This record gives sequence, C-alpha cells and structure tokens, in this order.
Amino acid sequence: MEIYVVDSYEALSTRAALIVAGQICAKADTVLGLATGSTPLGMYRELTEMHKKQKLDFSRVISFNLDEYLGLAPDNVQSYHYFMWENLFQHINIRPENTHIPDGLAADTDAACLQYEQALQRAGGVDLQILGIGRNGHIGFNEPSSRFTGPTHVVRLSEDTIKANARFFASVEEVPTHAITMGIKTIMQAKKILLLANGKEKAQAIKAAACGDIDPAVPASILQLHPDCIFLLDREAAQYL
Ligand code: GLP
Repeated sequence: MEIYVVDSYEALSTRAALIVAGQICAKADTVLGLATGSTPLGMYRELTEMHKKQKLDFSRVISFNLDEYLGLAPDNVQSYHYFMWENLFQHINIRPENTHIPDGLAADTDAACLQYEQALQRAGGVDLQILGIGRNGHIGFNEPSSRFTGPTHVVRLSEDTIKANARFFASVEEVPTHAITMGIKTIMQAKKILLLANGKEKAQAIKAAACGDIDPAVPASILQLHPDCIFLLDREAAQYL
C-alpha cells in the first residue's frame, strides 16, 4: 500500500482526477470502479473540467459502481444512480450503455447480484477502483463483520452507516436498511485501487485500515494485502498515521 498525504481536499481531488485521467490515457477502454458519497465529488468535478477543457475522452470508458440502496428507483434523488448522473455522467461523454450500477429495484436480488458480477467479468474486471471509506471502516457497503465478504451481494446496513448517511435524507427513517454492494472479493480483484479520505472523522478508520490488524471488523484493512493500492488522504484524515 502506498500512502500519499496532501494539504487540502482540493489537492486530493485534483490528484485523484489526474490518476484517473492517466489511467484513461493509458487505456481508452478502461474499466473504472466508481464510488459515491461526498468524498469523490471534488474528483468528479475535476474530471468534468478535464473533459470540457482538455477533451479527456470517456467514450470508450466502462464504469461499474460499487453499490446501490435497495428500494430506491434510479430517478430517486437519493439513489446512487441519480448521484452518478447528476455529478458525473451527464457532464462527460461516457456512453449510457457503458455505465453499470446495481439495480436497487431488482425483484430477484440474488440474480441481480450474479448478473452484475458476470457483466463485470465480461468487461474484463475493474482496472482502477475508486473507494471512499465509511467512518466504521466500510468500503462500498461492506460493513464490519466477523468475516470478509465474497462477491456482489445484498447487505443490511449497520446503524452507524444509516446514521452517517441520514445527512443526505430528510430523516433517518428514510434511509434504506439494505443495499447491493460489490463484495470484498470483487473489490480485491481490481487491478489497481485508489482510496480517498478527507476530514478528521475518517482519521480513526484510516489508522485502523492502514496500520491495524487485517480484520473483517475493519473491512478496509484487507487493502493492506492488495498489490497495487493507493491511499490518498488530506492531513486531517492522516493525522493518526
Ligand atoms: C457510503 C458509500 C461508500 C462511501 C461512504 C463514505 O456508505 N456506500 O461507498 O465510501 O458512504 O461516504 P462519504 O464520502 O460521504 O464520507
């Protein structure tokens, strides 16, 4: 694992976007694994600028998002579908058919998870996976557990995560209790991983993930075993390292 610490959220966003842009320049049909949440928003803004001003070309890029809430339709403003279109996809020239996000309305969730994994394998696997991190150390929606998870699956969200994500909803009762997420196995199969974290509320999770035992109670700690993983942090998130 390589750890880079930058001065500000702006610097983190610019550096992250440059890494993504470099990947796309090296391989036009890159398969990107994408994350939602507040953390990657600055990176998505930078990538939008790079597309508009420097003609960064997403026309052959394929994307697979990490996760989606169960029970939310794609046009629900709280869904991760909506988030991705609002914050990135509508601003760049990615082809809609090349974007993939788990189906939050799937009637047969097991089948939906299997199809998602199969589509990912058909695309050749993720070249560069972007990750945020939950305050409890979750990645995607892989919550602290007694064992590391496998492929894409349905997960029950922890109380911590429901409370943390309630800030995006009108009330905590509105936060879905379940989600579909790429599993730890899916994430670990990515060829390269870029984890982003900013702010002091992520500092404990970063310390546990980067320096603690490899323990499913801190799902991100498994990243210590990935052969090509970067943690890109601001000073606050890195304060306990
Ligand atoms: C959600 C997402 C994660 C994300 C995490 C942190 O739970 N499922 O993929 O990393 O939130 O979000 P934020 O970046 O808003 O702190």
